[in-house]
Amino acid sequence: MAQAGSTPVSYDYDVVRKFSVMTVVWGIFGMAMGVLIATQLVWPEFLASEFTHFGRLRPLHTNAVIFAFGGCALFATSYYVVQRTCGTTLAFPGLAKFTFWGWQAVIVSAAITLPLGLTSTKEYAELEWPIDLLIAAVWISYAIVFLGTIRNRTTPHIYVANWFYAAFIIVIAVLHIVNSMAVPVSWFKSYSVYSGAVDAMVQWWYGHNAVGFFLTAGFLGMMYYFVPKQAGRPVYSYRLSIVHFWALIATYMWAGAHHLHYSALPNWAQSVGMVMSLILLAPSWGGMINGVMTLSGAWQKLRHDPILRFLVVSLSFYGMSTFEGPMMAIKTVNALSHNTDWTIGHVHSGALGWVAMVSIGAIYHVLPKVYGLTAMYSIRLINLHFWLATIGVVLYIAAMWVNGIMQGLMWRAVNADGTLTYAFIDSVSASYAGYTVRLLGGILYVIGMLVMGYNVYRTLRLAQTDSTATSVGGLTAAAGK
Ligand code: HEM
Ligand code: HEM
Repeated sequence: MAQAGSTPVSYDYDVVRKFSVMTVVWGIFGMAMGVLIATQLVWPEFLASEFTHFGRLRPLHTNAVIFAFGGCALFATSYYVVQRTCGTTLAFPGLAKFTFWGWQAVIVSAAITLPLGLTSTKEYAELEWPIDLLIAAVWISYAIVFLGTIRNRTTPHIYVANWFYAAFIIVIAVLHIVNSMAVPVSWFKSYSVYSGAVDAMVQWWYGHNAVGFFLTAGFLGMMYYFVPKQAGRPVYSYRLSIVHFWALIATYMWAGAHHLHYSALPNWAQSVGMVMSLILLAPSWGGMINGVMTLSGAWQKLRHDPILRFLVVSLSFYGMSTFEGPMMAIKTVNALSHNTDWTIGHVHSGALGWVAMVSIGAIYHVLPKVYGLTAMYSIRLINLHFWLATIGVVLYIAAMWVNGIMQGLMWRAVNADGTLTYAFIDSVSASYAGYTVRLLGGILYVIGMLVMGYNVYRTLRLAQTDSTATSVGGLTAAAGK
């Protein structure tokens, strides 16, 4: 890992602290929304009103977990990592502050407009044009702060975590701006400049790369800093990490068409999406193996360190979901999985297993450091959180796999005379057991997040009362630590 010189450097931790705390707040909110809509899939009338029925709350859940929870975790850790590995403070601290308040304003606007039904209808890009403009302003400021800090570095080398973070920041700016191009007709309504199959292709070029760069590349940046740090070992192979970076970046861009199999998209484009998805298995697993092997010689640490456990288990879910994804991209497999709960299982093995677990591990690592403490208030509570999350995610995804494959098979079953064996509603009734198990898994996961919330609260209290903490304030530390 890049080491800065021995001169003490002042780091700007204020914005890191704010984003870290909000990661936990939005994590609880977004996942509680997930539990609410999971409940509505078991009891459709539950808390349902004009503003809070499933159709309105589902995009609120996805926006809250991806952009509010995931986004705050990415802002917090990238600002932390870039300073420490570049041996310099954040460039443009005023702009960094703007990214915090601007991003919170985006989230609050989403939480108001989505239940009101104000939506562009594009999945993961539902927000209307005035909010889109704010997102673009925040994101460009983020790029200026992050890349400006890299430019000001005192180290000769740009550590690989920063490559992943930088790619995530740059690509998301491009995706957001291109996919959100629209003609406004009023303050709350706009129409996309794309239409028909082109609209679908642009949307899933965006959607898949949002997975590839928002939900993957940024979190791989997190992995490349926090796994070695927490394990106390250098990255297993630095050379592999560079190959991983270029191979991943080059492949992801071409795979989006796997979301549009058997659609009006030209057949050759669907096949390109399928083949590129299969190729994507190689860099994904290269990165996963590089992360896991970083623990060689340090495996015994897993017995006592629940933070490391979060990080390592997140990598195994990353491996699992990036094996499953390419399989689902094969057209004949997709004919069975598409539109079933199998996709939902895949999404959450990536989301709860990979994205949420690596973020939780990283935030447990960062929080005490930026508050000038040596550890979180309670390691036991982190351990409890780990088991609640692990059992929760396993229940969730196992239930969705069973449901998904059952639904796919029921929809295609035919009688000897060629008529369908089951009506659609039969597959819905058969799914209830799985929905109930998923709900249980979700509740366990959210209880884990509440345990984290309590642990964070007590850690902040500790930082306030600890005189050493207040005098150090986490603001000054030796560079490269
Ligand atoms: C306690 C945790 C969670 C619960 C109970 C939960 C529950 C749900 C439910 C019930 C749906 C709707 C499924 C459907 O339409 O059939 C959903 C969709 C979704 N959730 Fe979650 N979720 C949780 C956490 C997360 C997290 C942490 C993320 C991302 C970081 C996430 C990302 C998504 C996405 C992307 C979808 C849409 C999937 C698609 O359209 O295929 N969820 N979630
Ligand atoms: C090699 C990596 C991956 C490949 C090739 C892949 C492939 C796929 C495929 C084929 C689908 C189903 C499309 C459909 O039938 O509609 C899908 C859906 C999805 N995947 Fe992945 N996946 C990968 C990794 C991941 C990871 C790591 C995550 C999350 C962290 C993720 C999140 C999603 C989401 C959110 C959807 C649902 C999109 C929607 O319809 O709303 N994927 N993926």
